[in-house]
Amino acid sequence: MSCRHFLTLQDLTASEFEALIHRAIELKRSPELASRADGRTLGLIFEKSSTRTRVAFEVAMNQLGGNALFLSSNDSQLGRGEPVEDTARVLSRMVDCVAIRTFDHAMLVNFAAHSSVPVINALTDDYHPCQLLADMQTFVEHRGSIRGKRVAWIGDGNNMCHSYINAAALLGFELAVASPAGFEPNADLVAAHSARVQLSATPQEAVAGASLVVTDVWASMGQEEEQTERLKRFEGFQVNAELMAHAAADALFMHCLPAHRGEEVSAELLDDTASVVWDEAENRMHSQKALIELLLNS
Ligand code: CP
Ligand code: NVA
Repeated sequence: MSCRHFLTLQDLTASEFEALIHRAIELKRSPELASRADGRTLGLIFEKSSTRTRVAFEVAMNQLGGNALFLSSNDSQLGRGEPVEDTARVLSRMVDCVAIRTFDHAMLVNFAAHSSVPVINALTDDYHPCQLLADMQTFVEHRGSIRGKRVAWIGDGNNMCHSYINAAALLGFELAVASPAGFEPNADLVAAHSARVQLSATPQEAVAGASLVVTDVWASMGQEEEQTERLKRFEGFQVNAELMAHAAADALFMHCLPAHRGEEVSAELLDDTASVVWDEAENRMHSQKALIELLLNS
């Protein structure tokens, strides 16, 4: 169905991504400038836990004058086996936009293919594009344009890392990724964006000269049973003051949260002045508001 979706950052052009960042900054300063969404409903289908993404969408819709309708998969017929295709067709008849947090990215793509209203990726096993809207907004607020800067991704080559790869390609920054062997990002995605992305041998090498250092949990949602094994395999990949000392003097630290203090990040760094994680969290709301505007007005 021909309808505008936001399944990965690649659904945006570079100039649309930049415009969204600037619109989010503007809406943060002047919320009254936002397009109204009176009488519009955003459906939220969440098959995984969430604090930030869910609250950001619900508060954004409330502030825009619309409604957010939370549908936990356990309470809907989707959880009892109603086909994704049928759910997409039915919801399209009642709501104006749908945000989905699920495991398999293919489920999101399938839903979108059968939806006549915009579908937003609220996190899949493969990508978390909404988080990048907030992260890039946060960088621009603190440091200005990210074009040409060096960004270090330390740790799991996961959904967040994949969205950083897409962001590097669109916004023109250099991304250095340091992951333990066997936990690198998707090789095809790295190869497709090799002009901007490189795999580093060590966290220290990745961080050298970086203006932004980013990490995420070592075991994502759905990988809980691997936690103990991953703790061993990720030894030496903690982002802490010692590692940050290799970065640029004014380097920022980001983490999408929730964080595991003492694992992927030291407790001290999370609360250090280099850390902008609370701004990142707040910006989820402003940037998702800008995204809703874009999709509802498309
Ligand atoms: N960063 C993020 O997406 O947080 P939640 O899982 O709380 O939504
Ligand atoms: N990589 C993490 C991000 C959480 C917001 C996960 O998928 O659990």
